[in-house]
Amino acid sequence: MLLAKRIQKVSASPTLAIDAKAKQLKSTGVDVINFGAGEPDFDTPDYIKEAAIEAIRKGYTKYTPASGSPELKEAVCDKLRKENGLEYATKEVIINCGAKHSIYNIFQVLINPGDEVIIPSPYWVSYPEAVKLAGGKPVILKTAEKAGFKLSASTLRRRINPKTKILVLNSPSNPTGAVYSESELRDIMEVAVAKKIFVLSDEIYEYLVYDGIKHVSPAAVIPEAKKWTLLVNGVSKSYAMTGWRIGYTAGPAEIISAISNLQSHSTSNPTSIAMKAAYAALTQPQQMLPQMVKAFEERRNYMVEKLNAMPGVTCRKPEGAFYVFPNVEGALGKVYRGKTISTCMQLADYLLDVAQVAVVPGDGFGIENYLRISYATSMENIQKGLERMAAALAEGVVPKGKK
Ligand SMILES: Cc1ncc(COP(=O)(O)O)c(C=O)c1O
Repeated sequence: MLLAKRIQKVSASPTLAIDAKAKQLKSTGVDVINFGAGEPDFDTPDYIKEAAIEAIRKGYTKYTPASGSPELKEAVCDKLRKENGLEYATKEVIINCGAKHSIYNIFQVLINPGDEVIIPSPYWVSYPEAVKLAGGKPVILKTAEKAGFKLSASTLRRRINPKTKILVLNSPSNPTGAVYSESELRDIMEVAVAKKIFVLSDEIYEYLVYDGIKHVSPAAVIPEAKKWTLLVNGVSKSYAMTGWRIGYTAGPAEIISAISNLQSHSTSNPTSIAMKAAYAALTQPQQMLPQMVKAFEERRNYMVEKLNAMPGVTCRKPEGAFYVFPNVEGALGKVYRGKTISTCMQLADYLLDVAQVAVVPGDGFGIENYLRISYATSMENIQKGLERMAAALAEGVVPKGKK
């Protein structure tokens, strides 16, 4: 085999099969409702686009320091101080090419072969693969729906061993939408600090929280927490800027400096023009966010209500992000159009074939019997897609002899 061992260990995304099929159907003119989206359906605000256009016109089109532009780092420090109660110096901040890149870099600079990284499941698909790429071992800790899909400090304490190097926390979570409270985070950070493990805190959905819930940064919950936290955030989800590829990391200067070295030999600086746009996003008044959050909250409420009315489906109300994560166990084991459907992957396939609705099966996020349904699409699409889904699920027949 020509390929390096490191890449052979990395799995292709199990969600891609459905996505490819949805796209293929769409290209043949089928009216597919895509609930697979991982990005806001809103456009990047004009004031942000204008900042990028001005950057190009003014010739801000050359290399910057590999760790990102000083002004954007300052803007990140200001944001963290004002909104998260965290004091970082610019040498403790680095700008990366999207939050995914931030996460990749952190694992590359912290993991030695065999080091363990605790990842609560359901998890965002890229964490285990990025750990493997760094030579580490992902240790998946299952969380239960009845615990709000959250890891408890006591479970964490029990699972830490001398090889444990990092815990991944993602609040608000993709795919469950779960948001950790301040006291839950305090308990977790007390364990992390006592056991001397790092916490990679992925806060990319920070602003997308509902019902008046407040996002809290783990680094801020106890004084010693900051030293052990690698805070990851970016502009992708909050400013509808997924394509601009700007994320950032805040953490101890020694680690940030190592990431800067890595970045200087890999990507170099994130795109200069996109950094100007991100600077505008962080420093100008938030114009789009309240509208976007309101629309997401309405869509979430509608989805949760409709899903709970579907046969075999139960859906908890997520506190954040833009996904619902219904339990479809009750819809499995039934016969649909002559075929028994026993897994959520098969159910996702059936929904695409029969209802032309694309949803993501839970398997990819490390859990069975769930679907991830994104509400980053219009209310009209949501209404249409859920109607079709309800009709398709109503066709399920319980096989004889099974309750
Ligand atoms: C939990 C989580 N973290 C990180 C990212 C990556 O964000 P970015 O587009 O900034 O790389 C995503 C994107 O889907 C995500 O869902």
